[in-house]
Amino acid sequence: MDETTASAPDDLVRRHAQPGRTLLAILHAIQDEAGFVPPAAVAPLSKALNLSRAEVHGVITYYHHFRTAPPAPVVVQLCRAEACRSMGSEALAQHAEAHTGCRFKQHGHASEQVHDHAGGVELESVYCLGQCALSPAMMINGTLHARVTPQKFDALLAKAVAAVARTEEAV
Ligand code: FES
Repeated sequence: MDETTASAPDDLVRRHAQPGRTLLAILHAIQDEAGFVPPAAVAPLSKALNLSRAEVHGVITYYHHFRTAPPAPVVVQLCRAEACRSMGSEALAQHAEAHTGCRFKQHGHASEQVHDHAGGVELESVYCLGQCALSPAMMINGTLHARVTPQKFDALLAKAVAAVARTEEAV
């Protein structure tokens, strides 16, 4: 979902900032619906929760999970933690960058994140997907894949890109 089709930030906040809900719960709900937390939601959130804008912004940027820009149509999350590293995830990461032509999103403050959407694909590092015995592991658009080889990566990515293209054609 891009910013032109996303719900207006005020509307997102009004619907999700229900009494008794924590800021984190509201941010999760907004991102689940819109795909990201629009920067324009910070002001209405701070007003609704009686927090400063800096406090709201601080929470959004502290947690890597929250994104402040729409995701690419295909999001690849590759595990870069110990078990997967020992089974070749770094070589797989290099392969992924070479194959897709984009670079892994840098972690850090959301405002500093690199959103590289080459070919509609985004690469993201994650740290343990709970599949250590089946490493290296990765997720593509939320679907878990284990024992990923470069060949398997290419096939899974092609399948995901084709699925997105079919969905876009159907709209
Ligand atoms: S270290 Fe990669 S799934 Fe646990």
